Amino acid sequence: MSNIVQANPDFIVEIGSGSGVIITALAAVLKDARCFATDINPEACIATSNTSILNNVSVEVCNMTLLTCFKEYLFDVIVFNPPYVVTDTEEVFGNGIARAWAGGIDGCEVINQFLKLLPNLMSSKGICYLLLIKENKPLEIINMLYGMKFNVDIVKQRKVPCEHLYVLKIYK
Ligand SMILES: C[S@@+](CC[C@H](N)C(=O)[O-])C[C@H]1O[C@@H](n2cnc3c(N)ncnc32)[C@H](O)[C@@H]1O
Repeated sequence: MSNIVQANPDFIVEIGSGSGVIITALAAVLKDARCFATDINPEACIATSNTSILNNVSVEVCNMTLLTCFKEYLFDVIVFNPPYVVTDTEEVFGNGIARAWAGGIDGCEVINQFLKLLPNLMSSKGICYLLLIKENKPLEIINMLYGMKFNVDIVKQRKVPCEHLYVLKIYK
């Protein structure tokens, strides 16, 4: 959180905000920033909206895939805990709750869609925090990001039962 505060962001977005806890916490600390959230699941959008209201912060919530409906917005902070679990591809594109976790091949189908958009989403001081698991092949993703002229740091790794988690910090 302190790194994000130091970056003094004006525009922050959480993709796939789910309950809205993360973007609400950011909005509570970064009172001058404009905070957005998106989720493909309309019920998650309602949950995010309710969480922000209950905590007296302003979060503008949009039901969309990734950030595809934002035209010409450049974000200073992008946070994404994607659906990263290895599943069949059909689960990724269904309508059910499986979209909360289903990542398809290598768990990367949504992650790869997102990374293709990333160069056009970040401001010059932009930072993206992306959560991955080992099955997503983080080193391959990092090499791909280097090829896209991004800098990447692994800022956190944690092993929990059944998952080895990585948080990437991606910046220009
Ligand atoms: C792993 S959950 C993360 C939820 C919450 N951000 C958290 O950290 O607890 C992934 C979220 O991404 C949403 N999601 C899945 N595919 C998406 C897409 N293409 N665009 C936007 N949101 C998506 C899901 O509905 C779900 O809320």
